Amino acid sequence: MNKKKHFETEAIREQLNRTQYSEHSTPLYLTSSFVFDDAEDMRASFAEEKEKNLYSRFTNPNTTEFIDKVVAMEGAESGYAFATGMAAIFSTFGALLNSGDHIVSCSSVFGSTHTLFTKYLPKWNIETSYFKVNETDKIEELIQSNTKILYAESPTNPAVDVLDLELLGKIAKKHGILLIIDNCFATPYLMNPIKYGADIVVHSATKLMDGQGRVLGGVAVGKKELIREIYLFARNTGPAMSPFNAWVLSKSLETLSIRVDKHCDNALKVAEFLEKQAGVKQVKYPFLKSHPKYEIAKKQMRLGGNIVAFEIDGGIKAGRKFLNNLQMCSLSANLGDTRTIVTHPASTTHSKLSEEDRLEVSITDGLVRVSVGLEHVDDIINDLNFALNA
Ligand SMILES: Cc1ncc(COP(=O)(O)O)c(C=O)c1O
Repeated sequence: MNKKKHFETEAIREQLNRTQYSEHSTPLYLTSSFVFDDAEDMRASFAEEKEKNLYSRFTNPNTTEFIDKVVAMEGAESGYAFATGMAAIFSTFGALLNSGDHIVSCSSVFGSTHTLFTKYLPKWNIETSYFKVNETDKIEELIQSNTKILYAESPTNPAVDVLDLELLGKIAKKHGILLIIDNCFATPYLMNPIKYGADIVVHSATKLMDGQGRVLGGVAVGKKELIREIYLFARNTGPAMSPFNAWVLSKSLETLSIRVDKHCDNALKVAEFLEKQAGVKQVKYPFLKSHPKYEIAKKQMRLGGNIVAFEIDGGIKAGRKFLNNLQMCSLSANLGDTRTIVTHPASTTHSKLSEEDRLEVSITDGLVRVSVGLEHVDDIINDLNFALNA
C-alpha cells in the first residue's frame, strides 16, 4: 500500500499532521516564533539535533507544507520557499556561487533575472555568457573552467520558445556543472526538469501555482545538499515566504492539475484561432504543430501551458491598438491568473531596450503575449477577435 501516489493525490494529501483540534484542512500558523519545553529542548533544536520550528524566518509549518508538496510534485529531494520568484532565483545564485564563478545562460530569460546577470552579480565578480534560444549547439563553446551553472527557462517568457531539457542535462553532466531551470511557465504538473538532470528547479509561485492573482511566492527544489546551502543563505538573509502566502499557495496547489488542464485546453483553442487570422503573422504555442520545437515540447511537457505569443502585423503601433481595443482581457503585468491577461512587451516591459537588443531575445515589435485564463474560451476568443478587427 506504500505505492507512490499520483500527482493529484500528493497535491491534496501531502499535508501537515493534524493538531489536537482534528481540523480537516490545514490551519494558518501566523506566528513569528515557536517555544521550547526547556533549555535542553532549545539547545538541541538550535543545534539541529531535532527537527523543530524555531522562527518563521527559518521555517514555519505552513511553508513546510507548501514546500513538501512542490518537492513531491517535482520529484525533488528537498526545497525552500521564498517571498517571490525573484527571491528564489537570487538566493539560489547567492548560495551556490562564489566570486570569480561564471554562468552560462540562455539569453531569453525573465527580465529581472537578466538584470541580476548584468547589474548585480558582476558586483561580486560573477560573469554570465549567453546562448540564443535557437543556438544550443554553441553552449559547450561558452563553458569555461570557472563555469558553475547552466541556466534556462522553458517555455521562455515572453516569446514562448522551448529548450531541450534532455540536451541541457547532458551538457551539464558532461561538464560537471549545475543545471538550474526556471519551471514557472510549465509548472510541476506539466514538466519535471529533474527527470532530465536539473539540479535545482526554481518557480515563481505567483503565477499558475497561485493561479488566482492573489499572492506572491517563490520556491526552489532539488538536490538535498544544494538546498541546504540555499536554506542557510535564506535563513540568514531573510527572503522567507510568509506563512499566510504559504497557506494560500498550498491550498492552490490542491487544484493545480485541474486548473492547468483547463488553462491548456483554452490556450490551445486560442492559439488555433489566432493561427487562422489575417493580420497575425506567427503564433507560438508549444503544442501547435507549427512551433519550431513542437516535438521537444511534446516529449518533455504533458500539455502546452497557458501562454500564447503571436506577432501582429504592423509592429508597435498595431500592438498598442490591439491592447486598446480589448474589452474583457486585462492589461496587467502578471500571468497565470484565472483572468486572461494580454501584454505587448515591445511597448511596455522591454521598451527601454533597443530594437536590436529586443530581437536578440526574440521580442519583435509586434509580439503580443496572452496568458490565457479560465473564462469560457468563446468569450476569450470573441474579445481577441474584436480587438484584432476593430
Ligand atoms: C519565468 C519567470 N521567472 C521568474 C519570475 C519572477 O517571479 P516573481 O514576480 O514572483 O518574483 C517571473 C515573473 O513574471 C517569471 O515570469
